[in-house]
Amino acid sequence: MLLLMTFCCYGLQVLFDKQRRVNEEAVEFAQRQQQLQSAGRLAAEIAHQLKNPLGIINNAAFTLQRTVKEGKTITQQIRIIREEVERSDRIITELMGYARLVEGRVEKLDIAEELEQAILRVFPPAVKYEVKVHRDYSPALPPLLMQRMHLSEAFVNLLQNAREAMNGLGNIFVSARMGGNYSVVISIADDGPGIPREKVAQIFEPYFTTKEKGTGLGLAIVKHNTELYGGTVQVESELGKGTRFILQFPAKTVMKLRK
Ligand SMILES: Nc1ncnc2c1ncn2[C@@H]1O[C@H](COP(=O)(O)OP(=O)(O)OP(=O)(O)O)[C@@H](O)[C@H]1O
Ligand SMILES: [Mg+2]
Repeated sequence: MLLLMTFCCYGLQVLFDKQRRVNEEAVEFAQRQQQLQSAGRLAAEIAHQLKNPLGIINNAAFTLQRTVKEGKTITQQIRIIREEVERSDRIITELMGYARLVEGRVEKLDIAEELEQAILRVFPPAVKYEVKVHRDYSPALPPLLMQRMHLSEAFVNLLQNAREAMNGLGNIFVSARMGGNYSVVISIADDGPGIPREKVAQIFEPYFTTKEKGTGLGLAIVKHNTELYGGTVQVESELGKGTRFILQFPAKTVMKLRK
């Protein structure tokens, strides 16, 4: 009888624990969703407001360019205005895409699956890149509670940077494993040219770029998306040897967004 009662109590305890975990997870889902929506709405509004004046400036410059035939310096100045408007427009378009937070929802993400999707996006099999991607995923990694776009944008930006740095030729090493304190450590490394020491401190700054057509937003987005979930980004780089970006996510956290 005593044994039966002990079994019953144990069974009930397990059931209660399970229900408690389900409830906790539901609360965390809802909380993250709400925080993301307010951040997304603000970004979308700002981006939208900036698009209008840019359009007006661009139109005015276009008309000026057509009416002012004489005066080389003037047309040159107008060309600069138009180029810079175009550049700002690209940045805003990117921000607007980013502001699609409003539509997204928090999901349980399988890290290895997300890494594979990102690799496919950056290295579509139809394009024959001379890049070998080496994988090393620990089995049974916990899922991450995030918006899919946040995680995939971070992975895609890091892989794209690696591909661009190596000029499409070299090795990329992608790994995911458990770290201390119930965290997940994801590393994306390349054996490209590396980053000069004096530039390393700047690479996460928005708009810092060494590329002719770069917006310089890629790594700022990686950092933002990671820190949003209480994670960290680190970089190790050596000239001539390569670069490694390390993302560390707490496997269970509450987002670091202001309410
Ligand atoms: N894997 C890498 N190897 C070498 N340099 C890198 C690597 N990743 C980033 N960088 C350097 O950091 C700079 C900033 O990167 P970031 O992704 O923020 O912008 P970008 O790549 O220049 O522009 P965009 O992401 O809009 O294409 C790059 O211009 C490049 O100089
Ligand atoms: Mg980039």
